[in-house]
Parts: sequence; structure tokens; C-alpha cells
Amino acid sequence: MKGIVLAGGLGTRLLPMTRVTNKHLLPVYDRPMIYYPLQQLVHAGVRDILVVTGGDSAGDFLKLLRNGHDFGLEHLQYAYQEGEGGIAEALGLAEFFAAEEPVAVLLGDNVYQDALAPAIDAFRRDPTGAMILLKEVADPERFGVASVDGDRVVEIVEKPATPDTNLAVTGCYLFDPRVFDVIKTLTPSRRGELEITDVNNRYIEWGALRHHIVDGWWTDAGTVASLHRAADLVAAERDNPVLRDLAPA
Ligand code: DAU
Repeated sequence: MKGIVLAGGLGTRLLPMTRVTNKHLLPVYDRPMIYYPLQQLVHAGVRDILVVTGGDSAGDFLKLLRNGHDFGLEHLQYAYQEGEGGIAEALGLAEFFAAEEPVAVLLGDNVYQDALAPAIDAFRRDPTGAMILLKEVADPERFGVASVDGDRVVEIVEKPATPDTNLAVTGCYLFDPRVFDVIKTLTPSRRGELEITDVNNRYIEWGALRHHIVDGWWTDAGTVASLHRAADLVAAERDNPVLRDLAPA
């Protein structure tokens, strides 16, 4: 299993904080945002990790994370996304790195209270198709939203104006290597991006999408309100090893 943290994009929803730096280098309480998804992967036993980033501050990721030794890693890999062509485009840059192995993909601005290790382990045991993690939220229109029929996800709609459910698709995705073929067939959405939601809908068409429900809290940190909320939530988790222990300050 390989791990991929997606940390590209322009972070325009966080202007002016992102005018001179990348969103994922901003603090969430007392750690840079990107530490949280990285810690999740390391905690789940993923040792081979690629960080995809872009923009003018790409070099700062190297300065901050170096070879990953603070996280107990022997090395870290990096890829550069030119422009902001979407989550699926950023993931497509990881094809060579994945080298036909299954991948655990985390969005660089997502923070989870609980360990993702159980879901990642479940996919390790049966690494076919795809798996997504869902969470009930109060503001589903901000996210990809899953419609379910019994225990099955039947469709995901990206940022629907009138969501059918309050089940947000969170930013942790597990894929088999077919994901890279799917990405090559995508066309840009109305917002001009290759959408991860289109990738997941393809797996639904194949009857190959599994899902878990996230128990603990989950938040993105990509807007002023959610960045603030993420910091408050993390600050209250002093003894949570997934959030606090791995990388020294
Ligand atoms: O947070 C979960 C949500 O993330 C999902 O529910 C949505 O289905 C999914 O589309 C995404 O929605 P956002 O519009 O909030 O994504 P955003 O543009 O903020 O990008 C999330 C992360 O993905 C970002 O922190 C870095 C990475 N990314 C994004 C883009 C657009 C890239 O690496 N490259 C990109 O071009």
C-alpha cells in the first residue's frame, strides 16, 4: 500500500493567508496542516508516501518535511502539479509512484479525530475496487454528497445545491491501480477540474465502491471557518496519538 497526500491547489478560499504561502503550510493549532494527513498515513503503517504539491511555495514543503525523519520515515517523495487542475489531476501525477500497488489518498486539508488505520487495514486485506469514508455533516452542500440505498452508495454528487443526504464524502480514498486508467478518461467539470467525485462514481458503476462511516469528528480546513474549527478541535485532543504524538514540534 502506498500513501499519497494531495497538497496542491491555490487555497483561494483562505486569501489573504495563502497569498505568499501554500494552504497546507498554515497552522492548524500547533502543527502545519499537512502534518495531520501525514501522521494518519504513518500511524496506519504506510511507509512509502508521496506529497503532491504545486505553486510558488513548493520548495517550502521540502524545507518543512525534509526526508520525513520527524515522522519516522526513511524517505519522502514529492511531485509537482502545474496549475490547479483538480484533485483527480493531482492524483494522476502519482501513477509512476504507485507502480501498480493500491493507494491510500488523503487530502492535505482534512483532519480526522480517529485513526484511519482500521479503514486502511480493511483495504489492505482486500485491495480491490475503491473505498470511501463518509461522515454526517450539517453543511453537505460544501462537499461531495453520497446517496445511499440501504448499505450501498448509489451516487455521489459534488457540491449539490439541494443535497439528498447529509453524508459528506471525506478526503480519504482507497483505490486499486485501475484509478489511474479512470483518471485518464475524465473531462474537466464546470469548475474546470478533474473531479475525484467522477472517479468514485466510476467505481460505483462497476459495483466496486465500498464505504465506511467515520465515527469521530472530521473537518476540512480549507475555509476561514473550517480552519478555525479544525484548530479548536485539535486543541482539545491533547492525548490523541493520531493527532499529537508523531512529529516533534
Ligand atoms: O474535504 C472533502 C471534499 O474535498 C470532498 O467532499 C469533495 O468531494 C472534494 O471535491 C473536495 O472538495 P473541495 O472543493 O473542498 O476541495 P479543494 O479544492 O479544497 O481541495 C482539497 C484538497 O485537494 C486540497 O487541500 C489540496 C488538494 N488539491 C486540490 C486541487 C483543486 C490538489 O492537490 N490539487 C488541486 O488541483
